[in-house]
Amino acid sequence: MDDEIIEKYKKAGKAGAEIKKEILETIKPGTKILNLAEKIEKMIVDKGCGIAFPVNIGINEITAHYTPSHDDERVIEKGDLVKIDTGLHVDGFVADMAYTYCDQPHEYIKAAEEAVKAALDVIKPGVTVGKVSEAIYESVEAKGLGVIRNLTGHGLDEYVIHGPPNIPNIRNENNAVIEEGMAIAIEPFITESDGTVKDSQPTEIYSFLQPKAVRMNEARQILEVSAIEFNGLPFAKRWFAGVFSQMKLSMALRQLVQAEALHPYPVLKESQGRPVAQAEHTILVLEDPVVTTL
Ligand code: CO
Repeated sequence: MDDEIIEKYKKAGKAGAEIKKEILETIKPGTKILNLAEKIEKMIVDKGCGIAFPVNIGINEITAHYTPSHDDERVIEKGDLVKIDTGLHVDGFVADMAYTYCDQPHEYIKAAEEAVKAALDVIKPGVTVGKVSEAIYESVEAKGLGVIRNLTGHGLDEYVIHGPPNIPNIRNENNAVIEEGMAIAIEPFITESDGTVKDSQPTEIYSFLQPKAVRMNEARQILEVSAIEFNGLPFAKRWFAGVFSQMKLSMALRQLVQAEALHPYPVLKESQGRPVAQAEHTILVLEDPVVTTL
């Protein structure tokens, strides 16, 4: 991996780690998640990075792909498991990281963090995906807890937030090799026992898929911005709240999804409604692997 690229990955990761520290010092029950998301996104830009995807804030059974709507009134309550998944980039080189806040100590949070550490202990050039998964799963299983089976860690690349290889959090026989020069994100999701997530309502996040002819002027504008300004990276519906009326915005997004011009990311909830914790770090698989987001 090119030194210049390594520095970009590191810069994104360092900014993410600094933001995490500041957020964990200020977040508390009563915090409005809309304010939290907007604050983190502003901090990302103020640190000279780009937003790789809208800040995901998933409370309890809301596991992934939830970002607040423009008029979101939800506040953090005592005991909530609040997953904050943040993506930053420098010229497209991404730091993908997540942590879980709760106003009290919680075994799922500890288990998620320790499962990431277990993975970090075995990651090096040449290790198989199956070995990394094994380390994660063993760590969680030893605590009598489970993982979300259909969410995985993943590779990262220039302007790619989810690339190969997939790194499951459950045992598998995958002999695909984690190679020197890869950037990968490890992200176990912990719940009471092994479970799954399912597509749910609402959809607040979208990304550019392909150019298509669409009728609405608003839709054409959104498509252009998503391709050029966001470089195909995911964006939030609320980012357009000040530009178009909610009615026009919803219509335009629906039209773009129907035309297969945009990819929708429906919110993912734990299938049985159980609370979930998450931890995530980005690792550069160099001869000596580097965790950029620590
Ligand atoms: Co990720």
